[in-house]
Amino acid sequence: MNVNGNLSPNEQQRMASFFAERRIPAIFERAIEGYITKKVGKSWDNPVILERLRHAIVAQKDGYWKPSQQRRLKYTKGYSVLGYLGYHFPVYFMQTEHLVAMLARDGLLKKTMTVLDAGTGPGVVPFAIADFYSRLDDARTTIYSVERSEEHIEAFKYLRDHCTKKDANTSIKLPFMADITTVDPVKNLEKIDLLIFSNVLNELNTASPEQRADLVMKFAKQLSPDGLILIVEPAGETTSTQLRILSLTLKKRGLTIHSPCSFIWSTNCTPDRCWSFVTAPSIIPTRLMETLAACKEPFRYVNTDIKYSYVVLRKDWETWKQYRVPAGSRVLRLSQIHRHANKRVNIIAAKMSEDLGDAKTHMFLLCDGSAKKPVYAVVPSYHITMENKKIVSAPYGSILELQNVLVRYNGAHDAYNLLVNRNTGIIPTTTHNTRHEPTLKN
Ligand SMILES: C[S@@+](CC[C@H](N)C(=O)[O-])C[C@H]1O[C@@H](n2cnc3c(N)ncnc32)[C@H](O)[C@@H]1O
Repeated sequence: MNVNGNLSPNEQQRMASFFAERRIPAIFERAIEGYITKKVGKSWDNPVILERLRHAIVAQKDGYWKPSQQRRLKYTKGYSVLGYLGYHFPVYFMQTEHLVAMLARDGLLKKTMTVLDAGTGPGVVPFAIADFYSRLDDARTTIYSVERSEEHIEAFKYLRDHCTKKDANTSIKLPFMADITTVDPVKNLEKIDLLIFSNVLNELNTASPEQRADLVMKFAKQLSPDGLILIVEPAGETTSTQLRILSLTLKKRGLTIHSPCSFIWSTNCTPDRCWSFVTAPSIIPTRLMETLAACKEPFRYVNTDIKYSYVVLRKDWETWKQYRVPAGSRVLRLSQIHRHANKRVNIIAAKMSEDLGDAKTHMFLLCDGSAKKPVYAVVPSYHITMENKKIVSAPYGSILELQNVLVRYNGAHDAYNLLVNRNTGIIPTTTHNTRHEPTLKN
């Protein structure tokens, strides 16, 4: 790492090599198999055990698909934790690595960090952070966690014993066994630099946005003044939208939404139908997944897609983009789009999805923080030109000016489409619109 805090070329190279592999470190694959063998008293690839794991995975997925009020996701005895290790662990591990890499790119990691992971399960987040830090030369983390399920904590201990080294630059503490909704702020903790809720708040199925916000604010008391909160949820419509509603609730409680949202008109948004998520390259299936998939319905047991919704919040005022629409700009606020159906307009908005369309017609969610209904850019591939191709290539969250787009109301979805054609210009806004190289702060 150089004096400006940029990661060294060697560190960047190690990270790039890791992501190119698209698989979790083999030590975790083997340890998960070993843990299953230890818990059930037979080899993990015994046909009877595999069949029980398949049942557990299907039962867990059925639970996920239920409306949130009817979900009863319990990780108690039996195969539920083993199913989680086999099916969810690998994808969530890689997802966390991508999120930590994003924090590094945004200059949000510190050289010495204290992390608290709430609802840690078998330790996916701590192990992924430790793995990320193992590729850095002189940075250190200490990771604490909270978890209420004894079975998950047992798996956590096993993985810690089998997959981490004592002299590593990350110290992973065993989880505090507690319910995050009732626990007092965790005692004897130093100030936390990074507080994480990964795939957990959606499991508090009876909690209202206000109650979830109470919970996050309770933990936020332990944040250092420049500390971060990272909340991650599955990309499904309900969990994703709930995350945006929670984010706005937390903003109204005084936290700053650092990313991925940009409030370019300095208004609060209407998040009720905001379904915005990120995708990352899918992972290579583990040996366990492939073995489970050697059956009649293989697709049920292979979980490789990485799709997630996230928000980074802070106590201070720093945001990833400081861009605001300049006074006097002749662009339409999306709150006024209903007055402009079938007309050509200019707008400025953030691209808040990757491609939701197909090879023939690309489609991207847009947000300027003022829209009351979802707005999409619709781009037929035969209309792509040098002047408008940035809409396709710009990364998630980029702020773009769309010049000369036709507004169409889509009654079937109660949404607006902005049709991009050959005469449309797409111009990235210049201020603070790029993420820099990975950096570490002192
Ligand atoms: C889907 S898992 C996510 C685990 C891990 N954070 C990840 O991203 O893979 C949800 C975890 O949150 C835990 N959990 C749910 N509600 C909790 C609560 N009220 N208190 C503590 N842990 C909770 C569950 O036991 C489970 O381990």
